[in-house]
Amino acid sequence: MYEKIEYGKIKNKSDWRYNGLANQHFAKEAPETYWKTSTDLPSFPALQEDTECDVTIIGGGITGITTAYELTKRGFRVVLIEANQVLNGTTAHTTAKVTAQHDMIYDEFIRHFGLNHARLYYEANQNAIDYIKGIVDEHQIDCEWIEQDAYLYTANENAVQKIRTEHEAYTKLGIERDLIKDLPIPLGSKLALVMKNQAQFHPLQYLKALLEQIVQKGGRIYEETVALDIKKGERPEVVTKSRHAIKSRFIICCSHFPFYDGGGLYAARMYSDRSYVLAIKPKIEYPEGMYLSIDQPSVALRYTVVNGEKLILFSGVSHKTGQGKAMSTHYETLRQLAESSIGIESIPYYWSTQDLVTIDKIPFIGPMSENEDNILVATGFKKWGMTSSAVAATLLSDLVEKKDNPYESIFTPSRFHLNPGLQKVISYNADVAKHLIKGKLEKPDVQFEDISPGEGKAVTINGRRAGAFRDETGCLHLVDTTCTHLGCEVEWNDSEHTWDCPCHGSRFKPSGEVVEGPAIKPLKQIDLD
Ligand code: FES
Repeated sequence: MYEKIEYGKIKNKSDWRYNGLANQHFAKEAPETYWKTSTDLPSFPALQEDTECDVTIIGGGITGITTAYELTKRGFRVVLIEANQVLNGTTAHTTAKVTAQHDMIYDEFIRHFGLNHARLYYEANQNAIDYIKGIVDEHQIDCEWIEQDAYLYTANENAVQKIRTEHEAYTKLGIERDLIKDLPIPLGSKLALVMKNQAQFHPLQYLKALLEQIVQKGGRIYEETVALDIKKGERPEVVTKSRHAIKSRFIICCSHFPFYDGGGLYAARMYSDRSYVLAIKPKIEYPEGMYLSIDQPSVALRYTVVNGEKLILFSGVSHKTGQGKAMSTHYETLRQLAESSIGIESIPYYWSTQDLVTIDKIPFIGPMSENEDNILVATGFKKWGMTSSAVAATLLSDLVEKKDNPYESIFTPSRFHLNPGLQKVISYNADVAKHLIKGKLEKPDVQFEDISPGEGKAVTINGRRAGAFRDETGCLHLVDTTCTHLGCEVEWNDSEHTWDCPCHGSRFKPSGEVVEGPAIKPLKQIDLD
């Protein structure tokens, strides 16, 4: 007998087994982020009328909220709209490491863009740590801010030279660093590169305080308000799904993948990557520090204190969204990696997240396109949204104020760094094309009776690929699997119970509604009658 299944939940042991998570370690039967569970967030009304302001911000994640905070502080009238609830997307699913150690990038950046460029990137992100710390101190925010060293390590003798080369890059850039053999945690390290004085915090406790500050300074926040279109002009307008217009001097898109492209070809210059997080009560004593392995599959570790005990956020096993194996197998792979390194007492929480990656690994922050300097964007933070969002908040606010910012040229979306971008554009678009074509040709041989309650599968209806999900009552929900963004074929995500697009990461409920863009229209429902 199956209980009622809400969207995205796995509610009974049968589904659990089906999803491959049959393991005594998992305390919860559905993915749930610790950050959300431990934060009582305010709610806001939907926009019910036409309105106007100085700056309209689209997206209620860390970037939209920090930018709204910065702009209201500088005296601008700000309206922030969010399609669902604030802090419900990527920000709630982060591991919240506040660091300029963004994986192995500095040697690569020096080679591709030059020493000055790499130094500015580091400086922007290091300043972002000070910026966040300044806000925490100014408002006395109780958000578990703790300074931590960040470690990049390898457990593979053959990769030791890579760490040494990255260390040389740190030396050239003047980054405070250390090269050590043994980590304070048994991860089998052969060599590790330490970046000193980074930090970790509870992101939602921090952002809850920023929401209060925005409202106190006259900023207006609307939830359940979906931006459908932008009308360009002197005072551009955001048009919402409920047909209300917001006129302002500037529009800033912080909606993860920009729902509006403005001719900037973002779909061809970014891809989306999914990764997994287990919040683990370990068998070992966890020391201080944030750790990231450069080996494959890469894993990252930090801790957070829950009820006086350290839980380790053990994350990684990333892959392109909608590509690869059944989603639940990734949780299991991560669990096995954790078991063999830190040991597992229990896993009180687990969740997954989706990040956008630009082809040159540098975020897009600035005017949406060369011809529109009053429509701005911030996206493509890879997995480093904590510092990148602070970089975006100050840079975008300076653009609104027409003030010079030393980092503008690094992050501008209209940059054209041929090396390494072009080759990746070609291979990425070939990958998108492959998924477009492969999906169209596929004629899955799955019968409706092969689909159990709680399961979703691709099927063939009238000679065309379609998606079928059977709910707990036995009822089938059928959708056209053609993504409404640019037409790739969506794939079933068996751990989140969504249809995910392998091309640019749009996600849809079993009934077709959009969970995450860039798509703004739902999947078409199929009625067999
Ligand atoms: Fe772009 Fe699906 S998200 S085609």
